[in-house]
Amino acid sequence: METDPQRIASVLEAAIEKARRNREGAPAAYIPELANVPLEVTSAAVTLTDGTCICAGDVDAAPFTFQSTAKLVTLAGLLEERGPVEVFASVGSEPSGDAFASMARLETHGPKPANPLINSGAIALCGQLRGSVSQRIAWLSRWAQRLYGAPLEVDARVLASERATGDRNRALAYFLKAAGELHADVNETLEVYFALCSLCGGVAQASHLPALLAAGGLRPGSGERVLSKASVAIVVSLMATCGMYNESGNYLIATGMPAKSGVSGVIVAVVPGIAGIAVYSPRLNDKGGSVRGHIILREMARRLGWHFALTEPRLGQGFAGGEVAPESVDAEP
Ligand code: DON
Repeated sequence: METDPQRIASVLEAAIEKARRNREGAPAAYIPELANVPLEVTSAAVTLTDGTCICAGDVDAAPFTFQSTAKLVTLAGLLEERGPVEVFASVGSEPSGDAFASMARLETHGPKPANPLINSGAIALCGQLRGSVSQRIAWLSRWAQRLYGAPLEVDARVLASERATGDRNRALAYFLKAAGELHADVNETLEVYFALCSLCGGVAQASHLPALLAAGGLRPGSGERVLSKASVAIVVSLMATCGMYNESGNYLIATGMPAKSGVSGVIVAVVPGIAGIAVYSPRLNDKGGSVRGHIILREMARRLGWHFALTEPRLGQGFAGGEVAPESVDAEP
């Protein structure tokens, strides 16, 4: 498990250069504003648990929306304020095996959403927030500021685009409402959900939340406790099992770093005890994950020994000198 900032910086640079050579994937056109971005922008940030931040790539590019990575804000905030019993009254804690906006499983295995990180689950949690729409959005902003260490803006153009094209999310919300799983007004709940997805910032800011999770709930740098260890255990475990939707297993085999993707092209990943990573590149695969983001994260896990299943033995013999990339990391099931 490498922790030297210089080595991390050089691996990060090389990973970005490798990722840039890949030209597969396309931005998320179903929310038109998300496709209205420079296609080749590629950036990444690693925030260590001591607060050191290492950035590489196009770090001065325009901010991007955090999309589904912001689902972690509602989940963590509600876990802290209401506790797991209330949170998991609305959502399950199992992978869905389906695409992020799938309706199918709600009918066959629901009506409770399989987990809080798919769209239906995140909408159900937005339905748990109290007060008017603006009070609920203010709640999100407060928790976003706590978890990212600085205020986040809502991108008004993306928000309008989400609203204009959000019929699938409307379908999910109406289904939840009809089935008695959403105890709030559908349109108001979706306003809150769309604002959540439209929170925006840069790649360094995006890496603060996974770093806070990597630090067991303590703010990187200051050591202030923001989340309880119990909340961190739930959030990071759900990232590992459900964070990348129907590519969660494949992704975890490749990287061993619990993560959450967003359709803007951001992925945040946690290296417990060491660092939080954010990568951004808008070319997506068919599961809504950033193609170049996957490459960068896989390179980091391989070159820095950050795969959670491949840590150095603590007793007995360690890995042979310099061996930090066991071949099994490359295995595709
Ligand atoms: O609700 C939507 O479809 C988007 N605002 C968020 C989806 C998303 O980020 C899926 N993750 N890869």
